[in-house]
Amino acid sequence: MLASRAVVRQMCGPVMQSSRVDVDLGSRSYPVLIGTELLPGLGGILREHGLKQANAFVVTNPQVGGLYFSALEKALTAGGFTRVVRHEIPASEEGKNWDEFSGVCTALLENFPDTGAVPLVILLGGGVVGDLGGFAAGVFRRGVPFVQMPTTLLAAVDSSVGGKVAVNFGGVKNIMGIFNQPRLVVCDLALLRTLDAREVRSGTSEIIKYGAVCSGALFQQLEDGALEHLLALKPDVLTDIVAHCVRLKARVVEQDEFDKKGIRNVLNFGHTIGHALELSADYALTHGEAIAIGMIAATHLARALGQCDAGFAIRLRDLILRAGLPVSFAAAPELFDRVIRAMQMDKKFREGKNVLVLPTGVGQWEQVENVAWPLVHEAVRAVLTA
Ligand code: NAD
Ligand code: GLY
Repeated sequence: MLASRAVVRQMCGPVMQSSRVDVDLGSRSYPVLIGTELLPGLGGILREHGLKQANAFVVTNPQVGGLYFSALEKALTAGGFTRVVRHEIPASEEGKNWDEFSGVCTALLENFPDTGAVPLVILLGGGVVGDLGGFAAGVFRRGVPFVQMPTTLLAAVDSSVGGKVAVNFGGVKNIMGIFNQPRLVVCDLALLRTLDAREVRSGTSEIIKYGAVCSGALFQQLEDGALEHLLALKPDVLTDIVAHCVRLKARVVEQDEFDKKGIRNVLNFGHTIGHALELSADYALTHGEAIAIGMIAATHLARALGQCDAGFAIRLRDLILRAGLPVSFAAAPELFDRVIRAMQMDKKFREGKNVLVLPTGVGQWEQVENVAWPLVHEAVRAVLTA
């Protein structure tokens, strides 16, 4: 077991819980530090982890930067960074595009033209900042070190870990991207307190996903009341569940870092239809909301194929509804065609065949290829209401 858990008592401060999960990828290994009030000590944390750069390039967005950039700058200065550059991208999925990616590359080159002054790239934000910024860090000078500082629940449990970094392009989610592991993930759960309720709910979608296909124990824990504690950001439950999800993801990524063996596909439960819906709905849905609907659609398909029982479908739907997440999307009839077209462009499709991750019971899954299109159509129709 590569995870450790500790209760940290700070001088004159409250008792706080923290966790460390190691992602074991040989020379690309890194720790994920999960705790409360990590930001003020970030400079020291980076140095302790061997990140000795004098310069930092921070990618964030106006909303998150407005809340946390000055604290971050102060922490970096205290840790001995002499130059801290701030670069902002738009605060939504619409900003996860090639032009913004190119804008980050331009800013990197303009600010750091000298090979001798390579910065540490710090990604302060949700999945959009993390995915786009990690991609830019991976291609600037063929790769400069970067640190993920997730500020959404979704980024804490999922996108900040595992090294998939990308932007949307040509109407397809995450189609331009690379694998690029961070040097460190610092997840300060105190930063989640400023999230609005919708974004907290959105983050629970990926947590439900882990429970539904990776861990029956997590699913049960959510059903037994942890879900409501999570929605209230109760610190001990939050730390515990974020660490649990990161451990689950780390174990999957360690077995199939480059998504070549079919193992990592488990993380895509709900994503084939969910991604298509997310883009087709023109950003009316958050990522987590689209994935919640995608999980319902995939489960509909699994039921049609006789792969899972009604009990699983009912439990999943109940949990999604308890999280305040949608189970369907009210759409004009023409959206159906857009969703199907977007699915056909999905990067998981191989040689014209669809590849879907379907649940087979709580905490279990199977990858199914070449599902008959009429069944896929029916599953999509089941989640699109007039
Ligand atoms: P996001 O990055 O768009 O953030 C959601 C919103 O929350 C934004 O408006 C942001 O400004 C705001 N916000 C962020 N932190 C805040 C804070 N602490 N306080 C107040 N507001 C805050 O969305 P997300 O849900 O974090 O990420 C979704 C993205 O992640 C999608 O693009 C998805 O494709 C990607 N993703 C990637 C992976 C991966 O493995 N790389 C996994 C899952 C999702
Ligand atoms: N979010 C899917 C993956 O990391 O593989």
